[in-house]
Amino acid sequence: MSNLPTLKIGKHAPRYPVVQGGMGVKISGARLAGAVAANGGVGTIASVGLACDHPMFTGRNYFEINEIAVAESVRAAREAFPEGVIAVNCMVALTDYDRQVRSACEAGVDMIVSGAGLPMKLPEYTKDFPDVAVVPIVSSVKAADLIVRKWGKLYDRLPDAIVVETPLYAGGHLGATRMEHVTDEAFSLETVVPELVRYIGDTVRADIPVIAAGGIWDRADMMRAFEMGARGVQMGTRFACTVEGDASDRFKQAYIDAKEEDVVVIMSPVGIPGRALKNPFVERYMAGHVDSKPCLAACLSHCSYLKDRSSFCIAQALVDSYTGDWESGLFFVGSNVVKCVRMESVEEIFRELVGQPAPRD
Ligand SMILES: Cc1cc2nc3c(=O)[nH]c(=O)nc-3n(C[C@H](O)[C@H](O)[C@H](O)COP(=O)(O)O)c2cc1C
Repeated sequence: MSNLPTLKIGKHAPRYPVVQGGMGVKISGARLAGAVAANGGVGTIASVGLACDHPMFTGRNYFEINEIAVAESVRAAREAFPEGVIAVNCMVALTDYDRQVRSACEAGVDMIVSGAGLPMKLPEYTKDFPDVAVVPIVSSVKAADLIVRKWGKLYDRLPDAIVVETPLYAGGHLGATRMEHVTDEAFSLETVVPELVRYIGDTVRADIPVIAAGGIWDRADMMRAFEMGARGVQMGTRFACTVEGDASDRFKQAYIDAKEEDVVVIMSPVGIPGRALKNPFVERYMAGHVDSKPCLAACLSHCSYLKDRSSFCIAQALVDSYTGDWESGLFFVGSNVVKCVRMESVEEIFRELVGQPAPRD
């Protein structure tokens, strides 16, 4: 009924071509991912930091508990709707990246989606799980080309889909090595999506769907992405502020209260820019005052806080935003946060996206 393109990612075909982006720490956990899968999209659990409020976390067993928590989350999301498509988002920049990928695969996940670095070794970590689709997140054709070449040469494997995330509007860490890229139209979806579709058709000569991410809010945005050649969209910010969203109500209230002037881009401890709300914590950081909670677990392979204390422990700051601590949290948002005026249900979002009228009450 909705005349939307069919999105097939490896062996997995959600009813609608809509992927809910992975959002850490714990903004997209099992509850949100399960709800999205039940409504016909791809529900994505963010693997980062799941240990933080796990009952078995002692403060010293972070990596071990993360592994357990990833598997538990996949099973819990699956339980919500066994036929749904469940993904885990694992960030390449994480120290325990390989362990998280394996744990998700062992728990029966359908797809691994990986960005925040180029996932050069992803096929190696999933090789025992041929049904698990592998999906890199890139912001340029150059990055996609590097992955395609390397995977072809080393693993004889192609990506099952490629997410193009534009740094111009997306939430969280941005696929940009320099601040200037964040406003550079060369990284817009309008530029990169058609270029990547052409590259896949002409150079790779394969059927790899492109999924557009960053700044997509409603059906009109989604249809524009399809006109550019995308066969799916990935959305983060709108799903973060849902009834089913795993974050605290105070996190969601910060989204509802956000105004345009509150959205800023900062250099994250990972060494790449990230889009966030200008709360007291970010304001202090932007003014050059670094205040940080102690390192949670050396969770990043590159961390400027661990290296020379020039930034802050991002894991702790993200956990604080998840619990809604406005003073000390790092609230990642996409530019579209200004469109959040209330908490929606996942079902409402899908009805709007696929063009179904809301049920009459
Ligand atoms: C709060 C928040 C946390 C995020 N965390 C992650 C993450 O852990 N890994 C990742 O690859 N992307 C992360 N993202 C990016 C989203 O998955 C998604 O691609 C992006 O938000 C899409 O742009 P949109 O917010 O404009 O819809 C995050 C985004 C937000 C808003």
